[in-house]
Amino acid sequence: MAKVLSGIRPTGNLHLGNYLGAVKNFVEMQNTDDCLFFIADYHSLTTHQHPEELKKNVKNILVEYLACGLDPEKSIIYIQSDLPQLCEFYLLFNMIAYLGELERTASFKDKARKHSENVNAGLLTYPVLMAADILIHKADKVPVGKDQEQHLEMTRKFARRFNNQYGVEYFTEPVAYNFGKELIKIPGLDGSGKMGKSEGNCIYLIDNEKTIHSKVMKAVTDSGPVVPNSEMPEPIKNIFTILDIVSTQDTVSFFREKYNSCEIRYGDLKKQLAEDVIKVISPINQRIVELEKDDEYLGKIVKNGAEKAAETADKTIREIREIIGIRKFW
Ligand code: TRP
Repeated sequence: MAKVLSGIRPTGNLHLGNYLGAVKNFVEMQNTDDCLFFIADYHSLTTHQHPEELKKNVKNILVEYLACGLDPEKSIIYIQSDLPQLCEFYLLFNMIAYLGELERTASFKDKARKHSENVNAGLLTYPVLMAADILIHKADKVPVGKDQEQHLEMTRKFARRFNNQYGVEYFTEPVAYNFGKELIKIPGLDGSGKMGKSEGNCIYLIDNEKTIHSKVMKAVTDSGPVVPNSEMPEPIKNIFTILDIVSTQDTVSFFREKYNSCEIRYGDLKKQLAEDVIKVISPINQRIVELEKDDEYLGKIVKNGAEKAAETADKTIREIREIIGIRKFW
């Protein structure tokens, strides 16, 4: 069984794109792989969040993950800051990573340019902390998007360098995991691009039916095709991309045929899409409402998750201390 580890920064609520593009696959993966899911709250501190905001965001992700079907009986679900071993690993690997390569990291350069008032050392060593997350559990596969690939490459480099430096074959190199198929990109309904928080075009898992309906009905369309079988412009293609995932094949074929024969009524298409998106989100939404009220249950889940995560983390720390030559006198 492969060990899969996924981390997410708590910076907001999960949206339909997160669910269909990633979390839904995580739910499946739990049955075939050895999975760890954690909330990277330390990582989110590189951009300073308001303390209350951070607390709220961590709880949101936890609740939403569980509501989507991540199952603490099958997987290890924990919060990064509940694993103190990570800080030691991070410290030790700060001696492995070179300043030059950290300064050349694309995400560092990008953030340093955009937020020149807050170029903190944590931002610089962000890839080291991420490598710590992964290597402390010796994860094999890490589901990440394009923007994280360089970080994963650096993780491999640090792992190799550690092995070479100490003449051991201790760490294996983790690989990116995209669920065996093309990464599904969920588009927004505002005409172009993907669904994303910074794009402001999201349908959230916490949205109620009315909100979802009104968001979908506002999807960008055009005046409709005039030539049969003409190619779809991007906004229409985007609607069909989501329809393909949330609706039945019959429904999709029905609307495709209508489009091809220039008889499509976008109002009907959107109504159907809204209905089918609601079918996906509404059960998740109900579980969110329930889970949100139960801090005691949530506390038990993450405590148990941290305890399980600590087992492998402790073992790795013990072993690398030994390899590095940290003497134990007692
Ligand atoms: N850097 C990741 C992101 O912003 C989050 C993350 C932190 C992560 N540690 C990780 C992802 C370890 C995978 C594995 O999306």
